[in-house]
Amino acid sequence: MTHPQLPGLPGSPREIPGPEKAMLKLSYGVHVIGSRSASGERNAMLADWVTQVSFTPRLVAVVIENDARTLRFIRETGVFSVNLLHEKDGMAIARQVVMPAESRKIKGRTGDAANAVIDKLAGLSYALHDNGCAVLDDALGWFTCDAEAFHTTGDHTIVVGRVTDGDVVRPGEMLIERDLGWEYAG
Ligand SMILES: Cc1cc2nc3c(=O)[nH]c(=O)nc-3n(C[C@H](O)[C@H](O)[C@H](O)COP(=O)(O)O)c2cc1C
Repeated sequence: MTHPQLPGLPGSPREIPGPEKAMLKLSYGVHVIGSRSASGERNAMLADWVTQVSFTPRLVAVVIENDARTLRFIRETGVFSVNLLHEKDGMAIARQVVMPAESRKIKGRTGDAANAVIDKLAGLSYALHDNGCAVLDDALGWFTCDAEAFHTTGDHTIVVGRVTDGDVVRPGEMLIERDLGWEYAG
């Protein structure tokens, strides 16, 4: 996995194996998943891995790291939002939410620095949906979901969500990962 803000490993660049090279060619949109805990804390995380998986009922799958705060919150409350970032200015939002909320997830953080929790929503303009999750004012569009199923797949968990509400906020197209210039693969 290549993370734009985490330190790289020292030494020469590694040879990328064929399967990984092919998977790096997959295309993704760029999304922000909004979530909340049972006690009312809120979070927002950057996610590529979001797709529709059923028309009737309307279901989506979002795929989340097993140790993400977001996954813990969705397991607690059973709700989340998906914000589609806009091609024009989604990059600024992506930068704001790319780090893990819990600093202990960042390599090299120890002591007090490791216990810090970042409020990634601070500085973003958003409303809270009736389900308590953030809907970004500057998204291209959004939808909200009730989590229906959790399926652990290796180091991530597939969360199947039943879509409960949603809308397009403004004209345009989605920001895609190729244009963002980052990658989430490995
Ligand atoms: C371009 C990009 C796409 C990402 N896509 C995903 C994803 O689909 N699923 C995921 O779990 N993490 C993804 N991440 C990493 C999460 O945003 C990151 O691990 C975050 O720490 C999890 O947030 P949380 O712990 O605050 O919930 C992506 C990171 C980048 C840079």
